[in-house]
Amino acid sequence: MDSRRGVSGPRARSFCWVLATCIQLLLLVELSQGRKLQQSSRQRRLQPYTDSTNTARHGPAVKSFQVSDGSWVDCVPIEQQIAAHHPALKEHIIRMSPSSYLNLQQNHVKPRSSGLHPQSFAREHGGCPEGCIPVQRRDPKQPLLRKYQTPTLSGQGTPHEYAVVGMPSSKGAYQGSGAVLSVNAPVIGDPASEFSLSQLWVVAGQYDNNSLNTAEVGWQVYPSQHPSDNPLAPHLFVYWTADAYKSTGCYNLGCAGFVQTNNNWVLGGTLSPYTTLDAHANNEDEISLVVLYDSTIPGWWLSISDTTIGYWPSSLYTTLQASADLLQWGGEIFPSATTVGHTTTAMGSGAFPIEGYPVTAYQRNVTYANSPNTFFDATLEIQGVTNANCYNSSIEQGDFGSSWGSYFFFGGPGGGNAACVKQN
Ligand SMILES: *[C@@H]1O[C@H](CO)[C@@H](O)[C@H](O)[C@H]1NC(C)=O
Ligand SMILES: *[C@@H]1O[C@H](CO)[C@@H](O)[C@H](O)[C@H]1NC(C)=O
Ligand SMILES: *[C@@H]1O[C@H](CO)[C@@H](O)[C@H](O)[C@H]1NC(C)=O
Repeated sequence: MDSRRGVSGPRARSFCWVLATCIQLLLLVELSQGRKLQQSSRQRRLQPYTDSTNTARHGPAVKSFQVSDGSWVDCVPIEQQIAAHHPALKEHIIRMSPSSYLNLQQNHVKPRSSGLHPQSFAREHGGCPEGCIPVQRRDPKQPLLRKYQTPTLSGQGTPHEYAVVGMPSSKGAYQGSGAVLSVNAPVIGDPASEFSLSQLWVVAGQYDNNSLNTAEVGWQVYPSQHPSDNPLAPHLFVYWTADAYKSTGCYNLGCAGFVQTNNNWVLGGTLSPYTTLDAHANNEDEISLVVLYDSTIPGWWLSISDTTIGYWPSSLYTTLQASADLLQWGGEIFPSATTVGHTTTAMGSGAFPIEGYPVTAYQRNVTYANSPNTFFDATLEIQGVTNANCYNSSIEQGDFGSSWGSYFFFGGPGGGNAACVKQN
């Protein structure tokens, strides 16, 4: 048991408050040293926490919780989150909410849900004290894994498989993306290394010369990344890269990059309840995602099910600084190289698109913005189905129900289908 666990709410709150006050005092000292700072003393500024290890990390937790799924959540002062270590975010003033002209909420489609928060941390503990953000504790020995590629690439020894749709690629055309995702728990054939996900990609630049930049969000079942917190459940994730997945970026708050502002959503935390094909074959659990550019950060806000979570600052990026070239939505799996035959890892619910609602996984109300103000129904095209006998995608229209806007079904059973064979 962690000794910090017993700290009571009010005490932790006042600790955070004292910390924030100290940081404000430091700011005042800076001011008195002749720094030209025009911010009010209430502003929060990123402050890298350093210790003897000299590695980028979050500041010490002021309160810690164990969630019933087995995970630990550390509440760290918002100023001392790991993003403070990014060289481009020195002295960065944290934006606590989107600028006024920008209405993230207005563009949100209400997800179907029980009305309860879809994460156990918030349900069980209510969130972190004011002024702190929740950070899912990781085993320090666990490697920080990277993604490798974009959905448009296929072949060339790159083993990921996709069923992805998108808006046509057009330089600088996009400033927002949204979708409502069914939340499923696809079966993972080899839990030691494989994953299966549903997400949206906001993309700029080119893979070939490493100028590819992304902001990504969705859920994934990735047992080896979550060995001790309900490994077979879907986990919320964010991801980014500024160099085609070469050396920058990571999942969640694993490295300096994404700036979190919200105090009760846990990046990397499980989403529950969720739909399992076997249990009720009925997609009823959803999350609503919106990513939207805001020139006053500047950067890209992430909002989930009507709540602002945080942002990817533009300064992380080289090509995604003010607009995106490509928006994509769909599923991806990573098959282990050692699996004999095609992996039985499923995508989506494990059902093919032809089975339709409510069995097949989907993303509905898929929208895009070409300015920071208005969202439109996406005009979707199939952009990456690596092997339709394993995982497929189908864009649906009209007859299912116009209230879903633009939507598609995706997924499949992988090697569970006899016609799905491993390709080289
Ligand atoms: C990468 O390639 C694109 C398209 O060919 C080009 O427009 C861009 O300037 C290149 N970027 C870099 C960093 O070389
Ligand atoms: C994949 O889905 C498309 C619809 O997008 C359909 O036309 C095609 O027949 C499907 N392929 C297989 C192998 O099921
Ligand atoms: C999105 O879905 C809701 C139902 O949840 C529907 O009422 C609404 O019209 C849809 N919006 C769009 C833009 O299609």
